[in-house]
Amino acid sequence: MNFQPRSGSRPRSLLLCAAVALAVAGVAVAAPADAPATVAPSNAQLASPQIERKVDALLAKMTLAEKIGQLMQYNDQGSSAPTAADAGAAIAVNPETRDHVDAYDLAKKGELGSMLNVIGADKTRRFQEAAMHSRLGIPILFGADVIHGYRTIYPVPLGLSASWDPQLVQDVSHMSAVEATTGGVKWFYSPMVDISRDARWGRSTEGAGEDAFLGSAMARAYIRGYQGTDLSRPDSVAASVKHFAAYGAAEAGREYNTTDMSDIRLRQIYLPPYKAAVEAGAATMMSSFNALNGVPATADPYLMTDILRKEWGFDGFVVSDYTAIMELTHHGIALDAATATKKALEAGVEVDMMSHFYDTQIPKLLKEGKLSMATVDEAVRRVLRVKFALGLFEHPYARGTEVTQAVDAHRPLARRAAEESFVLLKNGGAGQAPLLPLSSSVKKLALIGPLADDASEMQGAWGGAQHLPDVVTLRGGLAARMKKLGGELLYAKGTDVLTDSQAGFAAAKQAAAQADVVVMALGESSSMSGEAGSRAHLDLPGNQQQLLEAIVATGKPVVLLAFSGRPLVLDWADQHVGAIMETWFPGTEAGNAVANVLFGDVAPSGKLTMSFPRAVGQEPLYYNQFPTGRPAGDADLSKPPAGDTRFISRYIDVPNSALYPFGYGLSYTTFDYSGVQLSRKRVPLAEANRSGAKDLVTVTATVKNTGKRAGTEVVQLYVRNLGASVEQPVRSLQGFQRVTLKAGESRQVTFKLGFPELSFYNVKSQPVVEPTHYTVWVGGSSLATQQADFDVTP
Ligand code: BGC
Repeated sequence: MNFQPRSGSRPRSLLLCAAVALAVAGVAVAAPADAPATVAPSNAQLASPQIERKVDALLAKMTLAEKIGQLMQYNDQGSSAPTAADAGAAIAVNPETRDHVDAYDLAKKGELGSMLNVIGADKTRRFQEAAMHSRLGIPILFGADVIHGYRTIYPVPLGLSASWDPQLVQDVSHMSAVEATTGGVKWFYSPMVDISRDARWGRSTEGAGEDAFLGSAMARAYIRGYQGTDLSRPDSVAASVKHFAAYGAAEAGREYNTTDMSDIRLRQIYLPPYKAAVEAGAATMMSSFNALNGVPATADPYLMTDILRKEWGFDGFVVSDYTAIMELTHHGIALDAATATKKALEAGVEVDMMSHFYDTQIPKLLKEGKLSMATVDEAVRRVLRVKFALGLFEHPYARGTEVTQAVDAHRPLARRAAEESFVLLKNGGAGQAPLLPLSSSVKKLALIGPLADDASEMQGAWGGAQHLPDVVTLRGGLAARMKKLGGELLYAKGTDVLTDSQAGFAAAKQAAAQADVVVMALGESSSMSGEAGSRAHLDLPGNQQQLLEAIVATGKPVVLLAFSGRPLVLDWADQHVGAIMETWFPGTEAGNAVANVLFGDVAPSGKLTMSFPRAVGQEPLYYNQFPTGRPAGDADLSKPPAGDTRFISRYIDVPNSALYPFGYGLSYTTFDYSGVQLSRKRVPLAEANRSGAKDLVTVTATVKNTGKRAGTEVVQLYVRNLGASVEQPVRSLQGFQRVTLKAGESRQVTFKLGFPELSFYNVKSQPVVEPTHYTVWVGGSSLATQQADFDVTP
């Protein structure tokens, strides 16, 4: 299993024992594939009068120790819970008192509010029984890092986002909840909605990429999938939206690093997905590790009180990230545990994840009059509110029969999710015929590369409670396909992901020499992205580039499948390899999905949600840049203007543009755009400037499948706004639709632009529309060229 990114990834300087959760084996039974929810629950569900009455009644009965218990979180390491898996594990040490803390004892006393990454129905039941038999019988909330699947693993979130298919993401998330609730998990530390514009940041793999509009759509989809229409359903889980906030802007893409940005940028680019999640009813949030503008997010009242609670009306609770309260001492804004506790709690962190500060420090702070009881009560209220809303008091235990391996009924969804996530980056071109789809008459297919036959490497970071024997590797999927076609699959690993040894090159070249076509499975290992996975180089690791060059030199047609949790630099491959497909980390059904797409049963439809750079020095690289006073060319920034080519905003050694830009992705057919039209050319300011205005301008355009086979296109709408009081991006995404068209078929697509799409933040951090000139583009990537214009008039 893989609930921690990896055991060595925890900060080494922690004052307490880091936790590594353990898996529990069991019996496999398929869970029912319930229909996904389509309507978001309201945030009001959390704070209904009925729930508030229950909370009041319970709070009135609680001792201080019981109250503080609700704010504490432990894992099960070293607890005396009577299961074999606990034997010999280290016991958590309270950093202040150096006392050993036994989570099971706390549960029995009714002093343990939540637990982290406790896996297995049997285990959660034992802790829960202890809690339910305590004086007040308040259930424990079991949280886990279920990020892209529990037992059945779906593509990593960055891959899922490349589907541009929120309904798919909702369905996938719902399936994860259906599986995990059979193990007693009722709280997911997901979705990660941090915008990431810097491919060096390893956690890019956990989010939906660089764009706020798409990120918001995906955030809503996750919340709907996890929480359903009714949080109290036995198969619903509470989401924890993370990491609040702006973690993805870590300077230089270096993990846990500081962030610093204007309020406009924060609100326009980084906050929208968190806000969308809260509006969709997210029950909890997780504070982030980074400092924002000098204040560590875990102690930031501006983020957690002013914005989250006061502006957005959030009724749920905030959990710190792992030991983040303790880390306030490392940030240097708290010199002792008491100050860290006071700062975090007063700023709005209700639950202490693994710092183990709140239990010792809150009583002390109260006694010294440094913290009010009202602050503690408010924190406990928020936790209890979520527990009541979840129906945890009524059904505290794992539901149904425990799912202990990938669920067969969920495999088709996992396969479709993987197929939709793949992005075809190159397919012939510049005089070369398309290489894909592969013909079913291929007799010998060579599969080469370190990622071709490795189940664990198909899962990506945060593999949930994965069961590796369930994974279909590429070798498995392609061997089955070649057998069906009456052909043969030749396999050679060639090299490891990270090595200098060329010992496997000869066998790989030999396999290529015998084959009609070569498929190369190269890229990162799962552990190279995710938490603590920052990279300063974005090329193929180890000697995989040399292997690629050696195989291309054989003259055989080569299809490169790039596995990664982030954009890579693929400039050499772009020039020398016949076809390139980004496959991310596809999950349980990897091999079948790859076979289906390579052989054309399914045409690729994914589009990039992060720009792929030409060189790492371009990072952070994103399409919706601001203009400069010395522009380097037109909107795609790749064509130098006539005249001065030196004193303009550009690199002297590489174009500004991405190698593969945001929104880009090919299919096995082609699409053409025409006839962008607007419902009106002028919108009066008074009408536009109402925050509820939904349909100010309707944009229509025609998209046509101009190729020879059916395909799905992600139609994208971009907007630019010129003449505003603050400069605006060269274009920003404000709409998208997936459209499936038969060969030759045309369809008119419609988008509505209202206040949310046309407004921006002014210098006073107010969302406004001003009398300005708008350009809209409709097309198949952020380089869309079909446009129309309108004005907002004074
Ligand atoms: C990560 C979180 C995760 C938590 C619990 C932290 O290190 O930043 O994303 O949810 O650990 O495992």
